Amino acid sequence: MAQSSRTGIMLIGAPGSGKGTQAKKLKESLGYAHVSTGDLLRAAVKQGTELGKQAKSFMDAGGLVPDELVIGLLEEALTKPETQQGFILDGFPRTAVQAEALDAKVSLDKVIYMKVPFELIEERITGRRMSKSGHVYHVKYNPPETEGVCDVTGEELYQRSDDTPEKVQERLDKFVAETQPVVPRYQAKGIVVEVDGVGTPDEVFVRINAVL
Ligand code: AP5
Repeated sequence: MAQSSRTGIMLIGAPGSGKGTQAKKLKESLGYAHVSTGDLLRAAVKQGTELGKQAKSFMDAGGLVPDELVIGLLEEALTKPETQQGFILDGFPRTAVQAEALDAKVSLDKVIYMKVPFELIEERITGRRMSKSGHVYHVKYNPPETEGVCDVTGEELYQRSDDTPEKVQERLDKFVAETQPVVPRYQAKGIVVEVDGVGTPDEVFVRINAVL
């Protein structure tokens, strides 16, 4: 990948801080590609690819998938034509090694750091329900019109295997130990803006637009 003039926005924050929800809204409003390593990995697991088989146990345990696997996946995603105008990174980088690999390939314009108190995270994550096509609901904050069924596709909703209270704690621990330390790297470049992630998704989206 060569450095290019395309716009790069990164959403970083704890699990359940609303990165995916806001990335989808940004995709709609800006027309940029949404690149979520979590979604890419879940797709690989579903398709039963070699990468998916290797990643599954790490994901199920609430741990991080090894850097070399995720970096390759991300590099491939950023070569896709739909990313050429701009991209919204969600869930990458999560370690210093990933940040280094990313910065060697592309430059970012803005890093949105989603701040949500950890006390709210468990409720958000354990209440999340998904459709196979990737539509995301919450049993309390964003329920589907018909319980257990996706409004858009009619698919049955399911709960992610890593969305249990025990796994949430593991994921939060990983965030604090591995991902939070990546933030100062981008603060030093002057491109980080902290956004309060508490409130309705629309309220949070207004705050994000105000800083973009
Ligand atoms: P990934 O899918 O990236 O999970 P995550 O970072 O843990 O983030 P989440 O998807 O849990 O939360 P989110 O911030 O997107 O919140 P959402 O908008 O859905 O990664 C999963 C796993 O893959 C990792 O644990 C790891 O194993 C692996 N992986 C991925 N990337 C990797 C990498 N780079 N390196 C290594 N391993 C990697 O919102 C959550 C819920 O809250 C939803 O139900 C939503 O409806 C609701 N909600 C959202 N916003 C609001 C709001 N404002 N008010 C009320 N409810 C809200």
